[in-house]
Amino acid sequence: MVSILIHLMNSSAWLLIALFFFQSQEAQILRILAEKREHEREVLLKAMEENSNFSRMAEEKLQVKMEQIEENRQAYLAAIMERLQEKERHAQEVRRNKELREELMP
Ligand SMILES: *[C@@H]1O[C@H](CO)[C@@H](O)[C@H](O)[C@H]1NC(C)=O
Repeated sequence: MVSILIHLMNSSAWLLIALFFFQSQEAQILRILAEKREHEREVLLKAMEENSNFSRMAEEKLQVKMEQIEENRQAYLAAIMERLQEKERHAQEVRRNKELREELMP
């Protein structure tokens, strides 16, 4: 029965069947390519996001470090000023004592 049917089918029927087969193959290939492109796009987006996260974190770390350096510098300067003022007070006291001594015992 089937072999009779095959014998009866003319060449344009075979052509149609072949066309249908190749078209469905082509559709499948296009779908696979589209999926591949979509996957590549996702990978690229993720890489860009990671890169952006990395530089944001590096920037934040740098900011914190720079703030610490600035705080340390301020503390260092304040300590030096404090020591200088202390020395100055001491020098004034020595001078005053010397003047008093000179007034009492000329
Ligand atoms: C990027 O950072 C955001 C917010 O901190 C986070 O939700 C996301 O998962 C991170 N993405 C990657 C790829 O690390």
